[in-house]
Amino acid sequence: MKHTDIKVLFEDSAKFLNASVTVCGWVRTWRDSKSIAFIELNDGTSLKNLQLVIEKDKTEESMVKPALVVGCALQVVGTFIPSERNGFELSVQTITVLGGCPQDYPLQKKHHTLEFLRTIPHLRPRTKYFEAVFAVRNALSFAIHKYFNAHGYKYVHTPIITGSDCEGAGEMFRVTTQPWKTDCKNEQEYYAADFFGAKAGLTVSGQLEGEVAAMGLGKIYTFGPTFRAEHSNTTRHAAEFWQIEPEVCFCDLHDIIEIGEDFIKSIIKDVLSSCPEELAYFNERIEKGLIEKLNHVTESDFGKITYTEAVEVLKKSGKEFKYPVEWGCDLQTEHERYLTEEYFKKPVFVTDYPADIKAFYMKLNADGKTVAATDLLVPGIGEIIGCSEREADLEKLKAAMLKRGMPLESYSEYLDTRKYGSVPHSGFGLGFERMLMYITGVQNIRDTLLYPRTVGSL
Ligand code: 4AD
Ligand code: MG
Repeated sequence: MKHTDIKVLFEDSAKFLNASVTVCGWVRTWRDSKSIAFIELNDGTSLKNLQLVIEKDKTEESMVKPALVVGCALQVVGTFIPSERNGFELSVQTITVLGGCPQDYPLQKKHHTLEFLRTIPHLRPRTKYFEAVFAVRNALSFAIHKYFNAHGYKYVHTPIITGSDCEGAGEMFRVTTQPWKTDCKNEQEYYAADFFGAKAGLTVSGQLEGEVAAMGLGKIYTFGPTFRAEHSNTTRHAAEFWQIEPEVCFCDLHDIIEIGEDFIKSIIKDVLSSCPEELAYFNERIEKGLIEKLNHVTESDFGKITYTEAVEVLKKSGKEFKYPVEWGCDLQTEHERYLTEEYFKKPVFVTDYPADIKAFYMKLNADGKTVAATDLLVPGIGEIIGCSEREADLEKLKAAMLKRGMPLESYSEYLDTRKYGSVPHSGFGLGFERMLMYITGVQNIRDTLLYPRTVGSL
């Protein structure tokens, strides 16, 4: 269908001025009076609607009436002209209704609550809010690929179906084609007859395979869906979310922190310049001061504190936390938010966590108690990055796995990376939706995904 995107009309307005153009889109709102009618048309290419002006004495009534319907799809031919109020508008010659829209269309009003919109995920991309969210989601993805491409990383595609639980937290969704069977003697026998001849699940992280790739390609990143069967019913947890996981050889914790900070600042800068309209909208609609916050983040150094120091800060804070803090405990969201929102008032890397609360693959520090790991915490959200230097020593790695009761034989290929030419290497995982929440101010992870998957909701 030959037509011009509304975004192109606005961007290239000089070229189209006073020319006849064809546009397509959906009616967002309309107004009618005796001699003139107005339609706000949106085609998804621009947050801005194009105003259609219909002078009734110049247009057939049979053409106009069916178009004055919220939600219906139109193809319109008209003249693109300057307008005092809107910058530009379209003086309509002909209208064709491509798809009518009956009265039960749920998006009749201009504003709907986010809770209501969550009940109609198939229709919410037709609202300004979600148009803006998905525009930034797109721009952020692109910015991430640009960053790694410009810095010589190879994009690798790690498997989605896997046999290894990278984080060791037992949160894998099972993948099976087996019918229900009760006559197996044990789990092993049951899975031996399954599609892969072994227990399989959806990946919680591409890291282990990413490490394998980095060990030949030098530096890589993954950007793909990851899955966690966590029962955390919070505004920051989804069962299916996207993760960006760079893995870098010849790189220690200090180096990867530098990379992480540079990466976060660069992608924010990129989105600030590629999505000014969307961010201005979020700045007004969701988080006052959002743009100032983002600019500030790109210009100032991130905070750094060790876990041990952070525990002291939390204990001295005088705050009544729901979960009391002691050295050795996992930091809860309330602790993370105090550190980043009230103490540092900016993003902060917390480093050197107790080994016992972190994953098996992290490098043991010289103290024998803590690991060379860091989480990046940001105001409003808490953890957005989980990062570590990896344990490169074969014997220490095996010991950490055995301590956690992991079957070494299932990880023999992973262990080979430490056996054959092991090198210091580090990596991190950025939760894509959490980053998107931070950049847009969106408060609930369910409003960053086309079809959010959360516990109890498919
Ligand atoms: O801290 P996590 O569990 O780290 C890993 O998976 C490592 N293997 C990463 C690596 O070193 N390559 O997860 C990384 C990030 C978290 O910081 C968080 O932003 C996000 O993934 N995340 C979630 N996002 C949404 N919903 C969930 N259920 C999430 N779980 C983790
Ligand atoms: Mg983590």
